[in-house]
Order: sequence, then structure tokens, then C-alpha cells
Amino acid sequence: VWVLQRYVLRPMTELTGGAEALAAGRLDQPLHVGGADEIARVGAAMERMRQALLSAFEALRQHNVNLEETVAQRTAELTASNAELSEALATLQTAQRELVESEKLASLGRLVAGVAHELNTPLGNALTVVSALEDRYKQLEAMLAGSVPMRRSTLDELARDTRRGQDILQRNVQKAADLVRDFKQVAIDQTADLRRDFDLAKVVEDVLVMVEPSFKHTPYAIETQLQPGLIMNSYPGALGQVLTNLLMNALVHGFDGAAQGQVRVRCAPLTATEVELSVSDDGKGMDESVRRRIFDPFFTTKLGTGGSGLGMHIVHSIVTNVLGGQIEVRSTPGQGTQMLMRLPLNAPQRAGSEGSEQP
Ligand SMILES: Nc1ncnc2c1ncn2[C@@H]1O[C@H](COP(=O)(O)OP(=O)(O)O)[C@@H](O)[C@H]1O
Ligand SMILES: [Mg+2]
Repeated sequence: VWVLQRYVLRPMTELTGGAEALAAGRLDQPLHVGGADEIARVGAAMERMRQALLSAFEALRQHNVNLEETVAQRTAELTASNAELSEALATLQTAQRELVESEKLASLGRLVAGVAHELNTPLGNALTVVSALEDRYKQLEAMLAGSVPMRRSTLDELARDTRRGQDILQRNVQKAADLVRDFKQVAIDQTADLRRDFDLAKVVEDVLVMVEPSFKHTPYAIETQLQPGLIMNSYPGALGQVLTNLLMNALVHGFDGAAQGQVRVRCAPLTATEVELSVSDDGKGMDESVRRRIFDPFFTTKLGTGGSGLGMHIVHSIVTNVLGGQIEVRSTPGQGTQMLMRLPLNAPQRAGSEGSEQP
């Protein structure tokens, strides 16, 4: 019995206890099983298994820790590059907004240049007349002083020249004043985003006065078909920018050095609350790949030769965001281009304008 107890029963109990501990995941207790050879060998095998399990678990735990560290690190990296990306995006958006603003200013600059050019003629005429009148006046003074004999015929001639000079002066100075007045309206409208009631045909005509100098010494002409009396409550300056861009594009891209060309600007009622405004040229047109991208910022087929590619982007954003309308481009290569706009008579209230009209 003692032998049985010492070599079989006790070791068996130890073995069972050890197996149960292993099964329950308690791996920290080393297993020493004595007793008979066979039982001791099973015990030793179980001890090796315990140690193997222990190191496997340790490896697993270590792996887990590594994994967590890797995940944390990658997350941090992603967060950082995400922040960099949003910063880059913000920078790009700012740059784009600045470019859009400077393009708007540039178009105003072109307008100023056109107006300055237009003013040159009447002011030049006025200056010539003024110096001619001065000569005549000196003749008159000389006669009054007695240094030149006073003759009826010379006096008649002086009176006639003075009268004619005055007429020419009157007409030219009036023309200059009209130009300045129109330009002031367009410039104020363009810079102040003014909302007001206006006759569409009248605003189109004002804009044409500003754009016509650019067409003057070219074989291209602007023709209009404007229905008067379409009263809008909208943003005439914004509308003027759209028209200026479309007309300049017809000139630069549509005609592009062609022997001749014609742009037609047309406005007509569409529904009780909407009008159609179109700018059509009979120039070279564009293919589908250009037409599809025409409103993309920076898209231009004249890169490096003056094109910023922002013109049509600005047109689109003004037509849809400011005027509350839609614009459609129809074009076939070799057959010209039509820019069709559908505009509400009443522009929507602008977000951020607090429903109030600016002075
Ligand atoms: N009337 C037109 N006829 C032919 N192509 C045009 C016309 N208007 C615009 N385009 C095309 O659309 C492109 C984008 O126009 P826009 O945004 O005004 O940029 P940009 O005038 O600076 O090139 C032009 O480069 C041109 O290829
Ligand atoms: Mg352009």
C-alpha cells in the first residue's frame, strides 16, 4: 500500500492537479511529478508543454503589444499627414480665392484701360480746339490793342471760328463726361456688388460701351438684339463682369485672329420671372473636351499666352451664386459658340448679406 501510495496514487493526483491547472490557464506553477517511471515521464512531458504554452502566450502578448504600438504610431502618422493635407488644401483654396479676386481686378483694369483709350479721342479734340481758339483770341486782342487793323471780314471769320470751336468743344466734352459717368456706374457696380433695379438692355449697353474699344481696330463686330423694359432687381456689376468675360472670350478664343467675326448679344423674356441672356459668336468654336472643362478653374487653352483659365469659372460662379441663374455652353468646332444664360428677374438674397442692400 505504501508503495502504491508513494509511486502511483500521489503522482497521479499531482498529475491530475497539474493537468487541471493547465486547462484553467494557470501556467505559473512548475510541475514536479515523481513516482513511477511512466508517470514521471508523463509529468515531465506536461511540464514541457506548460513551458511551451507559457512562452507561446508570452510571444502572443508581446506581439499584441507591438501591434498596438504599430497601430498607435500609424494612427499618429495618418493624423499628421491628414492635418498637412487639410492645411495644403486650405492654402490652395486661399490662393484660388485670391486669384479669382485678382482676376476680377484685372478685368476692371482692362476696363479702365479701355475707357482711358476712349477718353483720349474727345479730350484730344477738345485740346486742339482750345489751342485754335487761343490763336483766334490773340488775333482779337491784337486788333483791340490797335496793333492790327480791325477789319469787318476778319471779325466775321473770328466769330465763325469761335462758334464752330464751341460746338466741337461742347460735343467732345459732353462725350467725355458721358463716358466717365457710364464708367463710374460700371466701376461702382463691379466693385460694390450693388443690388438695384435696372433695365437689362440698358446695363448691357453700358457694358458694351466699355468693351467696344477692344473690338475697335479689329475685323470683329458686336451686334445686339436687346428687348428694352426687362426690369431686374439684381446685381448689375456682377452681370457686367459676366458679359465682359464672355465678350472678351469671343474676341480672344472664338475669333483668335480670324479674318472676320460677329458676336451677338441678345436678351429676351423667358417666363414671367425669368429672362434669357445670350452671347453668341460665329468663331472657331470648341470641341467637347474643352466644352466639358470650360468652367474648371485654371482650365485654359491659352496657357502662357495670357490665359488664366479663371474667366469662365468666375462667370459660372457669378451666374449661379450671385445672379441665381444657370448658364449653358453650346459649341461645335468651326461653328461658333453660344453662351446661354437663364436669369431670374429677382436675384436671390445672398447668403451673408443679412437681407440688406449695400449702399
Ligand atoms: N467663345 C469661345 N470660343 C471658343 N473657345 C472658348 C470661348 N470661350 C472660352 N473658350 C475656351 O474656354 C477656355 C477657358 O476660358 P476662360 O475660363 O475664360 O479662360 P482663359 O480666357 O483665361 O483661357 C479658353 O481657354 C478657351 O479654350
Ligand atoms: Mg477668358
